Amino acid sequence: MQLTGHTILITGGTSGIGRALAEAFHQRGNRVIIAGRRRALLDEISATHPGICGLQVDMQNAASVASLAEEVRSLFPDLDVLVNNAGISREETWDGDVIDIDTSLSIIETNVLGVLRVTAALLPTLAKQPSATIITTTSGLAFVPRFNYPTYCASKAFLHSWLQSLRHQLRHKPIDVIELPPPYVQTELSGPQHLSDPAAMPLGDYIAEVVALLGEPTPDSGEILVERVKAQRMAERSGVYAQIYAKLNPA
Ligand SMILES: NC(=O)c1ccc[n+]([C@@H]2O[C@H](COP(=O)([O-])OP(=O)(O)OC[C@H]3O[C@@H](n4cnc5c(N)ncnc54)[C@H](OP(=O)(O)O)[C@@H]3O)[C@@H](O)[C@H]2O)c1
Repeated sequence: MQLTGHTILITGGTSGIGRALAEAFHQRGNRVIIAGRRRALLDEISATHPGICGLQVDMQNAASVASLAEEVRSLFPDLDVLVNNAGISREETWDGDVIDIDTSLSIIETNVLGVLRVTAALLPTLAKQPSATIITTTSGLAFVPRFNYPTYCASKAFLHSWLQSLRHQLRHKPIDVIELPPPYVQTELSGPQHLSDPAAMPLGDYIAEVVALLGEPTPDSGEILVERVKAQRMAERSGVYAQIYAKLNPA
């Protein structure tokens, strides 16, 4: 895709990957709208990056998503890029006496239902543009799961499957459907320790590689894969699934 001249909504734009993508797109001359729950961060980012607009939304709440879509439709009728990036990751224990089902449901509400709701509400606006792009952040864990994040991994596997069907259904329209499965990247997704974990890819390196790949023609697969995620993404195809699974899930 062209990296300039778009009107882009990025959910989960208040921190981590979404915020860094928002800043990168803003620097390249795009109109950027970020969405998230944390009002203070939305205000800080718009104040320090004139032109970025912050809209508050709770992706777990259908009414809140509907009002975000309504605001975007009326303020930015030229929206041509939607980045479905908001997500949460929580550890879960399914082998104890009590199972915390609320945690599992909150992951599904945010990572799955939130994406479906936003996409459904904004597809008609995207379809009105001469061309449009939907980018959705999945995860390398969609392809080889980690035992302690069962619903998180499954939520991303859901999106991977759903995106293939969405891409096929939209194939006659000028709407690109891109999947972005990050590897393990330094953000606060699973807590403060995650941000400085040396095993995770530095956020700046990840964003630089993603932006460079986005600037190239979209592969037929619709997947934008940085080098670090390729082994996990291709594990089954290249016959190393069992090794990668064992590494992520020690006996
Ligand atoms: N970092 C990694 O290792 C990694 C790997 C693979 C995939 N990913 C995916 O990358 C995406 C971004 O995560 P990140 O790593 O950048 O972590 P992050 O810094 O925690 O970002 C998550 C973003 O999602 C937003 N969000 C969460 N719940 C929300 C809700 N109910 N309503 C609205 N916004 C909500 C947060 O904003 P508010 O808190 O302001 O609402 C925040 O901006 C996620 O989809 C994640 O699954 C990350």
